[in-house]
Amino acid sequence: MKTLDFDFIIIGSGLAGLVAAYHAADHGSVALISKSELDVSNSYHAQGGIAVAIDKDDHPENHFQDTLIAGRGLCDHDAVDILVREGQECIQEIISCGMEFDRDENGELFLGLEGGHTHRRILHAGGDATGKMMTSFMLKKVLEKKNISTFEYTAAVRILVHEGHCYGVQALQFMSGENILFKGRATVMATGGLSRLYTRSTNPHTATGDGVALAWRAGVQMADMEFIQFHPSALSLPGEDAFLVSEAVRGEGARLLDVNGERFMEGVHPMAELAPRDVVAAAIFRQMKKTDSSYVYLSLKHLDADYIRSRFQSIDAHLSRLGIDMTQDLIPVAPAAHYMVGGILTDLWGQTNLPGLYACGEVASTGVMGANRLASNSLLECLVYGKRAIEKARRNLQETKETETPAPIFLNKETDEEFLSVKNELADLMNSHVGILRNHEGLISAFEEVNKISLRYNAPSNDYNRHKIKNLIDICRLIINSALLRKESRGGHIREDHPEEVAEQAKHIIQQLGKEIQY
Ligand code: SIN
Repeated sequence: MKTLDFDFIIIGSGLAGLVAAYHAADHGSVALISKSELDVSNSYHAQGGIAVAIDKDDHPENHFQDTLIAGRGLCDHDAVDILVREGQECIQEIISCGMEFDRDENGELFLGLEGGHTHRRILHAGGDATGKMMTSFMLKKVLEKKNISTFEYTAAVRILVHEGHCYGVQALQFMSGENILFKGRATVMATGGLSRLYTRSTNPHTATGDGVALAWRAGVQMADMEFIQFHPSALSLPGEDAFLVSEAVRGEGARLLDVNGERFMEGVHPMAELAPRDVVAAAIFRQMKKTDSSYVYLSLKHLDADYIRSRFQSIDAHLSRLGIDMTQDLIPVAPAAHYMVGGILTDLWGQTNLPGLYACGEVASTGVMGANRLASNSLLECLVYGKRAIEKARRNLQETKETETPAPIFLNKETDEEFLSVKNELADLMNSHVGILRNHEGLISAFEEVNKISLRYNAPSNDYNRHKIKNLIDICRLIINSALLRKESRGGHIREDHPEEVAEQAKHIIQQLGKEIQY
């Protein structure tokens, strides 16, 4: 099997992976691996922006408090403190490198508002194309670095572990079908989330949680897998993808109406449409049930049409193509899986329990998000913790070791349909029983069904499609196990049979292969 040696192996080319690669390049050779094209990632699709307390009337302490409130008692205070303070420096750094955020007519940074924020502090770029602008900017910077080698259409399939240390990954190149051993002195998982595990998701097709499954199999600890964040307002039109209609739209005053035209958020939370995301998503879901509808409406009819069109150009263009005028028509929306709040457990420097392996971005659980991520904190987490992971990794670079050569994984067109059918089967199960509202009965039934499916895939196989199926099964089990254990409602985890938040359960659920679950 071909072997390539680098100092740093970065897996994933979303914002966290790009930031990590950019900083790593100052300390050695870097392989940046992406299973699709380099510009396909969740970060690319982020519309709203990036939260940072830079307004003169704002302070990192306010941002800190808002993050804690949204996180419902499960945020790590040190992690949040680092996020809001170092976040300011990272923003100044990226601006001085040339990143352009939107400014007002006086040249001041133009700050938006989103759910759970008590101050306007959302920087945006290209109106509603912040993720695209930031990832494009960082990708350009990365491509300028001579010692970064990029590998597109290359999927990590196994973490290389030798004597309790990680020494890189085995990867499969889709174009050639070739397996490559990427040997590294430090390996960084920046593989993003798993929301495509659900039938309705705002994420690109690549967000299937592979990084989680690989790390799990390598004995890495996973934290709080039950917390899946559903975005309140994704387009709900038959036959159309769950296109994200940014929370920033509500930040500019858009209202949520049920199918009877009634506004319903005012009675639910003092911040109404701008309550934290878990509250709004659950309220919409309940209102949909009450009115026997598969959507509610976003209404912007009362807002200045010209301003809305110029502020949300991408959303306006997308909706116009579907015959919807966002300034005049009611926009049908419903919650959709959006963000993995838990993930690979790391310390404040992205270090996992497996020496040599680091994680940052959505795949990591740094302690910043708690039980529910505050809107627009994720791009900031990528900047801050992508940089910190490299800061730690560069100080702890390991000697490369000879590792055993694992069996190659092969592509097999004949099992493509089988993969899709199992993926859909699992997505239906997750949607029906492990979605916004959960209960013991549904979770047990999902657990049993996943077990039945897994019996069909017990035999060892090096077929890539079967490997992906096993990944999905492992991830579903991680989420369901955690959801069954947390017998309370907190943040993105709402149990109909345990509707209260229980103070004694303000703890993390940690899973590790072969070990008893910690809770
Ligand atoms: C949005 O624009 O509503 C999504 C931003 C985020 O997930 O933080």
